[in-house]
Amino acid sequence: MPAQYRRHVLLALFLTLSAGLGCALLVERNGWAAPSSLSSPAGAAHMVDAFEAVSGPQPGFRRNHAKGLCVSGRFDSNGQGVALANTGLLRTGSYPVTGRFSVVGGNPSVNDTQGGMRSLALDISNGGETWRMALNSSPVFFVRTPEALLEQLQASVPADGREARIRHFRRDHPESQAFEDWMAAHRPSTGFDNAAYFSVNAFRFNSADGQEHLVRWRLQPETPYAPLSDEQIAQNDPDMLSYGLASRLAEGPLRWHLILTPALPGDPVNDATQLWTQPGHQEIDAGVLVIDAQQPQMDGPCRDIDFNPLILPPGITPSDDPLLQARGAAYAESHRRRVREMAGQ
Ligand code: HEM
Repeated sequence: MPAQYRRHVLLALFLTLSAGLGCALLVERNGWAAPSSLSSPAGAAHMVDAFEAVSGPQPGFRRNHAKGLCVSGRFDSNGQGVALANTGLLRTGSYPVTGRFSVVGGNPSVNDTQGGMRSLALDISNGGETWRMALNSSPVFFVRTPEALLEQLQASVPADGREARIRHFRRDHPESQAFEDWMAAHRPSTGFDNAAYFSVNAFRFNSADGQEHLVRWRLQPETPYAPLSDEQIAQNDPDMLSYGLASRLAEGPLRWHLILTPALPGDPVNDATQLWTQPGHQEIDAGVLVIDAQQPQMDGPCRDIDFNPLILPPGITPSDDPLLQARGAAYAESHRRRVREMAGQ
């Protein structure tokens, strides 16, 4: 390449890089956008900062789903799930479970009658394999990408202009409609015990005969769903969910069925905002989750667990759903911060 062209190319490259770096610094300092990938450690820190900006500092608590309680029990697998994944935890047997019920948001003292959703996180282990999952009581999520979640958090910061920012977010994210519709049509359940909990994201299941299936799952309660009544809402008991669970457990263990649903061709497997609406899905009942005890989260066995949904047993791997890698990174960052804060107390 002639010398004068080489000089031009180098100059152009230098200008491009400095402009890029300058923009990145500006963008980062002003919080307009995240670093390139929200699944990187820097991106996860940015995401967790955004959760903190919405709820204010709550040292020692999870940066989302801050209010919750620990539970324990077992998963009685009936072996049916092995048809989909060659996983020890899906073979017939009984495996210990440590779990956590929670409500959404970063405020550990939020009033239980306010939230529209219940959540359940589980660690199922057999000594060699561990399966962690964090499930919500809605079958779909309100955004498709971590970038959109970050946008929503930034719009929700309690500061001037919040309402307009949220209105703009809604206008720009029609993909939230299925979530909004579902929430409008389903009043929250009266308790943690009578809600179904959904994986929302799909995961890849690999069976022993080499077949691959994309699978969503849910935990279906044996206790029938009952919607929160107007009277319960009016009573405004801030801790109704933990008291309710304690009184149900005093009567005996609670049970949910693990229902595995493989995708049909054409199902949106990488988009957690969409339901799988085609008729004819196969549903495999893989066994029963039995919860028989509850403990406070402050010193219970779930406190220091990172219920990172990417901690999976052999035979199950993440799908290409863009939320999943960002979830893994953000949960790890939130866990790192709260464990360090607890250690410093
Ligand atoms: C990119 C998307 C998401 C991000 C960045 C995110 C972020 C977080 C963070 C930071 C925590 C606190 C983790 C900890 O400190 O242990 C958390 C907890 C939780 N998230 Fe998400 N989340 C996302 C999507 C979802 C989805 C799709 C679901 C439901 C399927 C979900 C369900 C939960 C539950 C149940 C917990 C509580 C876990 C526990 O009890 O420790 N999240 N999330």
